[in-house]
Amino acid sequence: MGYDLVVKGGRIATAADLFEADIGVRGGRIVAIGEDLGLGDRTIDARGRLITPGGIDAHAHIEQISSTGVWTADDWFTATRSAACGGTTVVMPFAAQHKGDSIRQVVADYHDRAGPKACIDYGFHMIISDPRPEIVDDELPELIRKGYTSFKIYLTYDALKLNDREVLEVYALARREGAFVMVHAENHDSIAFLAQKLLAAGHKAPKFHAVSRPQAVEREATHRAITLAELVDQPVLIVHVSGAEAFDQIRWAQARGLRIYAETCPQYLFLCAEDLDQPGIEGAKCMCSPPPREKANQPAVWRAIANGVAQVFSSDHAPYRFGDADGKQKALQDFKKVPNGVPGLELRMPLLFSEGVGKGRIDIHTFVAVTATNPARLYGLSPRKGSIAVGADADLVIWDPDRAVTVSHSLLHDAMDYTPYEGMQLTGWPIETLCRGVTVAKEMEFVGQAGFGQFHSRPLSDMARPVGRFPTGFNPHDGSYQP
Ligand code: URP
Ligand code: ZN
Ligand code: ZN
Repeated sequence: MGYDLVVKGGRIATAADLFEADIGVRGGRIVAIGEDLGLGDRTIDARGRLITPGGIDAHAHIEQISSTGVWTADDWFTATRSAACGGTTVVMPFAAQHKGDSIRQVVADYHDRAGPKACIDYGFHMIISDPRPEIVDDELPELIRKGYTSFKIYLTYDALKLNDREVLEVYALARREGAFVMVHAENHDSIAFLAQKLLAAGHKAPKFHAVSRPQAVEREATHRAITLAELVDQPVLIVHVSGAEAFDQIRWAQARGLRIYAETCPQYLFLCAEDLDQPGIEGAKCMCSPPPREKANQPAVWRAIANGVAQVFSSDHAPYRFGDADGKQKALQDFKKVPNGVPGLELRMPLLFSEGVGKGRIDIHTFVAVTATNPARLYGLSPRKGSIAVGADADLVIWDPDRAVTVSHSLLHDAMDYTPYEGMQLTGWPIETLCRGVTVAKEMEFVGQAGFGQFHSRPLSDMARPVGRFPTGFNPHDGSYQP
């Protein structure tokens, strides 16, 4: 039997290997990797190109209402179109529960929004903000068993935060069901206190967003999220880690043998606190939480990626337009009113490729691991996603490793009116993106279709398996005590 598609002669990079071969595709899957597979019904000449697995962006806010009640600028169509053009073939945004919601209903509604518009494959994490008994005992176990195997909780934001007791209850449920927990770790009361004092003193400009959320509040909450996880023996991933101080806590936990993972994002490598301090409200373009740190912090984030302390590189795409009255223009009032978040779906892969691989800060295998293979393994998408292997979906990115691109928002495909990375000069660009063997983006243009994306329910992840150790010997899940 022949191939629907043969991708010929590219240099294939996986998390482990780099080699030259043809890739044979049938029915959307890779069925052969070999030296000379001949021609397919369609053949792509990839000689001189690099091929990586399609990117998995495991943290993005798409067609979601923020903690302050504002819709993201991107809907499922514009977000996934933009992701495809940047080399991403799977996105994992959040079905977000707000207080009082049934999470079952939230998930059903999110499917209705995604299905007709998604241009690439997708899965849902859930956001749990109201862990009342019927949610924890009834709805969540059912959803986890149906393949919604990960959820995010918040230690900050009035509308979303859980207290420590609630965190423990949610961790305990996750352990019972084998689910994976992602934590937004910032100390809420400290932020509220500092913000109130700043505003009372007349400090309203965007730069004070960072002053109200210093590394110390992230460090403390990260340590607390880890400590609570240790008490109930629940693996946890700390999302959007911004700086050296939180990474110190994570490294400490990992060295202690705890199953603690970390994610970081482009804004912590390529933006800094100084970017919030620009004339007028321009700095609002770079406002996200946790905020970008001082420039001197950036090497610590690179180190965390390079030496494996951070396993996942996501965009945390949270798009709010600069020109919208309910978007970044809110900075005209004060920093507290501004919806938090920066866009990054389309540039996540090109930025890390150019500045990481291209400049020798990380190798190509680490690049593939943090942008595709590790998120696939952590969130139950492998072996179908995240690598280039026989049996996997033909999710492929063909790179021109030498293409020079000056970033401009006019090149991008989201629904935003700016990019915080405007003017950066990058080398290397994803010139063709294939999702299940179908080209969805080519030469910086979107060529895919709304509704093509498939939803993936996800089995429990091996990486979310508990360690089996409790600090005092007391197992709070079954009541046993073995000191
Ligand atoms: O500022 C951010 N990161 N906004 C998106 C919401 C979140 O906490 O990830
Ligand atoms: Zn968050
Ligand atoms: Zn986020």
